[in-house]
Formats: sequence, C-alpha cells, structure tokens
Amino acid sequence: MEAEHCKMNGDPFLESMYIEEHTNESSFISLIFSLKEEVGALAKVLRIFEEKGISLTHIESRPSRLNKDEYEFFINLDSRNTPSLDKIIRTLRNDIGATVHELSRTKKKDTVPWFPRSIQELDRFANQILSYGAELDADHPGFKDPVYRARRKEFADIAYNYRHGQPIPEVTYTEEEKKTWSIVFRELKTLYPTHACYEHNHVFPLLEKYCGFHEDNIPQLEDVSRFLQSCSGFRLRPVAGLLSSRDFLAGLAFRVFHSTQYIRHGSKPMYTPEPDICHELLGHVPLFADPSFAQFSQEIGLASLGAPDEYIEKLATVYWFTVEFGLCREGDSIKAYGAGLLSSFGELQYCLSDKPEVQPLVLENTAVQPYPVTEFQPRYYVAESFKDAKEKLRKFASTIPRPFSVRYNPYTQRIEVLDNAKQLRNLADTINNEMGILCSALQKIK
Ligand SMILES: [Fe+2]
Repeated sequence: MEAEHCKMNGDPFLESMYIEEHTNESSFISLIFSLKEEVGALAKVLRIFEEKGISLTHIESRPSRLNKDEYEFFINLDSRNTPSLDKIIRTLRNDIGATVHELSRTKKKDTVPWFPRSIQELDRFANQILSYGAELDADHPGFKDPVYRARRKEFADIAYNYRHGQPIPEVTYTEEEKKTWSIVFRELKTLYPTHACYEHNHVFPLLEKYCGFHEDNIPQLEDVSRFLQSCSGFRLRPVAGLLSSRDFLAGLAFRVFHSTQYIRHGSKPMYTPEPDICHELLGHVPLFADPSFAQFSQEIGLASLGAPDEYIEKLATVYWFTVEFGLCREGDSIKAYGAGLLSSFGELQYCLSDKPEVQPLVLENTAVQPYPVTEFQPRYYVAESFKDAKEKLRKFASTIPRPFSVRYNPYTQRIEVLDNAKQLRNLADTINNEMGILCSALQKIK
C-alpha cells in the first residue's frame, strides 16, 4: 500500500539541528524595549548594560508605531554573557519604565522563544532548515538518481536565495516532471467530486481558470500566490527544506505558507515521502483560498508565537490532524479537507471507507494523539465546520502559558503584542471603527 505524507516535523528537539545553528547569530538573545522620547533616555539604558559588563552586538531604533511619544529599541546580546540579564530587565521595567520583551532562540528558562514580529522577519529563519533539498534519505525514490538530486538542489537554491517581497522565480519544468504531474492530477481529479469537501470543489475550477491548473501544466507558485492573496490574503513562499514546527507555524500567523516547488521522483508518481508541488498545489492551495479555512490556519500560527516547546508540539499535532489529515461534516456525509488526503489517491479513498476510526475534533485529545508518518492514519478527526474548529482553537490557545496576547495587523503586516493599556486602547479604537461600519451597513440594509 502506498501512501503519501507530508512530513511537517513535530519534534521541537530537532531544532538543535538547524543548519545555521552554529553561526554566531544563533547564540544571541534579543530584547525589544520602548522608551519615552527624551534626552538621555537611551544613554541611561546603555549605562545599565555597561555596568553589568554586557556588550551589545546589534542595536536598532525606530519611532514606536504604537505610541507616538516613544522609541522602540531592538538589541542583540551575546547569550554567553548574560548572567545578570534578569536584573537588567527588572531595572528597565521598574526604574526606567520601559516595556521589555526578551526573545531567545536558545530558549533559556523563563524567556519567550523568539518569534518574527513583521512579515519581513520570516527571512530570518527561512534558511534554518533541518535538511537541504538535495539531501535525500536512502529509501527515497530519487536517492540513486544524480539528475534528480541536481534538480532538487536547483529548487533548494531558488528558495534559499528568496527574500520576502520578491516574486517567486518562475520554473521551466521538464517533460518528465510534467508527465509526473499529469498522472497525479488526472487520477486525483476523478476522486474530488465525491471525496473532497465543498470548499475544495468550489475553488478548484477557479484555479483551473486563473492559475493554469491543468493536467499538462504545472502551475507557477507566483501565479498561485497572487491568486490566494486576492481570495484570502494567504501567500506562498518557497522553502529550501524542512523547517522546524515552530518556524513553519509562525509563517501561518502572517498567512504565509511555506511551499515546496520541486516535484516527486518520476519512477513513483503516486508516492512521495515528503511534501512536493503536487501536495502543495492540489492539497493545500484550494483550501487556503477559503476565507474561513484561512482564518483557522492563521489561528494555529498565532497561537504558536512565543509558545513553550510542549505547546508547539501540540499545535503541530493539531495542524497534522486538521490542515493535513482533517475530515469535515457536510450534511449527512463526511468529506476530506486535509492536504495529505487530497493529494493522495490511496488515502483519499481509504479515509472515507469504514476502515479507519473517526472521532469528533476535540482539541484537548487531538493535540496529544500520536500518529504514524509513513503509513495511512488509523484515526481521523471530523470538524463540524471551519468556524467551529477556529473557535475550538481559540479556546485551546487561551490555555497556552504566554504573558501576552497577539494580534496580526494586516495593514502593517506586523504582529502586535497586546500587553499594555495603550495597545489595548488602539485595538478598541480599531474595533470601534469596524463596529461603526457594521452598524451603518445594517441600517442601510433595513
Ligand atoms: Fe502539507
């Protein structure tokens, strides 16, 4: 039995294997703090660091976007030199009155793990991957094929050099690659009307019309990304290899989906041991075009920002049983919406047969359910609707120990950390404006 699976890594301990882990950059601790704009304010802060013998390796300042009379400072310190950091943070908070956030990728006790605050910052971890594209396992169908391996490196290089804001480079796919796509596309398309959820079947014809989804053509990521942005604000970003769960989920908080661009090995068109472009385009993309599903996916990402490792593992498991392998109720029947199912001819039929166990989506249980990664799932979870799943996720997220709440601001494409009265007032103003629009629209409908 052949299965196709997306290996989104669920093991946070693997983070120690980052390819770029050994560079100097990875041993930093970052602090973000804001100060009132007054003469000598920064000098006072710098003196505190100097007195404690801590040298700063990087410092940036900018006017605070949230509080007009404040400046924000972003600093990096060498993490080997920070025994008195706690004292410094206390002094900054108590004596200077600064708002301080400590961000760390080395995850010392009591620090909030680093997370990107702006969409551009996704560039910072995009290449901290667990394996590079050309490194294949011995049991990979392309392991002994030097041409395939070289091709995989070409794709990995595109992603490695990609930066936010650039168009995703167009790829000319070979005849063999197109043949592989064509087989997968044709086979799966026969199952969609009966097995895929309403949202998938609704969007698929639009992808055929606007994005070149056709059995003889592998669509370009850039075209698909633009289409998604116009539907739900989601966008694609090429990825050079396997990201850690923390980094992958952080992308979702910005409605960014890290996507592969290569295709599986042609010798086994109905099998791939890892996500490939068939999986991304046929499985994930149609759902990301749906606003309700997009919101649910982003909610997983937002919950992950700054969350402790054990919760990252739980969220990655929730992601697995929903975005990858989720089923949903449609009237009296059950349909598939998970990308791992929608991109696997065998498992798409199997998941709706009477063989696997099917349970309602209860996140407290789903989040701790072990799962196999190399065979069909023995158990699936059924969502009542994406709205219902999103509400459950919000409740679940509120149990994650984190000293602040976060919100994504789509205008600035930044994460707002809601931990002080001023920010909450700003949010209340925004909601107030929206309420005004809603009330006025309701009156006009009457
Ligand atoms: Fe996937």
